[in-house]
Amino acid sequence: MARVALVTGGSRGIGAAISKALNDAGYTVAASYAGNDEAAAAFTGETGIKTYKWNVADYAESQAGIAQVEADLGPIEVVVANAGITRDAPFHKMTPDQWQQVIDTNLTGVFNTVHPVWPGMRERKFGRIIVISSVNGQKGQFAQVNYAATKAGDIGIIRSLAQEGARAGITANAICPGYIATDMVMAVPEKVREAIIAQIPAGRLGEPEEIARCVAFLASDDASFINGSTISANGAQFFG
Ligand code: CAA
Repeated sequence: MARVALVTGGSRGIGAAISKALNDAGYTVAASYAGNDEAAAAFTGETGIKTYKWNVADYAESQAGIAQVEADLGPIEVVVANAGITRDAPFHKMTPDQWQQVIDTNLTGVFNTVHPVWPGMRERKFGRIIVISSVNGQKGQFAQVNYAATKAGDIGIIRSLAQEGARAGITANAICPGYIATDMVMAVPEKVREAIIAQIPAGRLGEPEEIARCVAFLASDDASFINGSTISANGAQFFG
């Protein structure tokens, strides 16, 4: 039977590429999304991948959404915690609300996504947890105290989960994408974006598929001894 994979934020951007790559690799994929019904419907129409709406920042919603996915498709064996937001501002302008929104979605959202599936993975003695961190969690970034804190936090999460899950056949790894051609990066003012690209030795933004291929590898049986690792995919922008 095909393994079931959940990709949060899986209908747009890097998440959509991950959902498609796992679908192509033979997984039964569920893609969760928070709000953009139109994009989710278009994504399902295009790919046939089921989409589910819940807010990863809310534990009860995550628990209910995950229960629904498992009722429809079977036990989740691969989790890709990809959903994330930015609320960029220089620290002296960052509001407590901007801080909290990013913490709730990007960091607590990982807890809310992994915690409900963890007992089943332990019982079945198999699981793959893949968290999408960021180069900015490794190096920090101007105007991203909130975002960088969550993405650095992801690395602490997977290193701890790796130790707890290793004997139960569960691996937990992170991917740190650099700047990838998605709506999130395109929202950065053009001048700033150009300055960032100039600092990337590859001389270009990454493609979502370049991250999705890393995920497909980490999810596979071939990656069974890779646990607690961080894969950097950033065009040589930073060596973390
Ligand atoms: N390094 C140093 N200085 C910088 C800077 C940088 N990276 N970016 C901006 N500045 C400077 C500006 O030049 C400006 O300086 P002056 O006042 O001397 O002109 C000052 O900082 C910013 O001033 P503002 O008060 O005008 O800033 P603002 O309140 O309008 O905020 C901003 C602008 C939000 C910082 C905007 O520049 C921005 O979005 N920057 C990009 C941040 C970024 O890289 N985000 C990553 C998003 S993609 C992502 O997160 C995905 C991933 O994982 C990689």
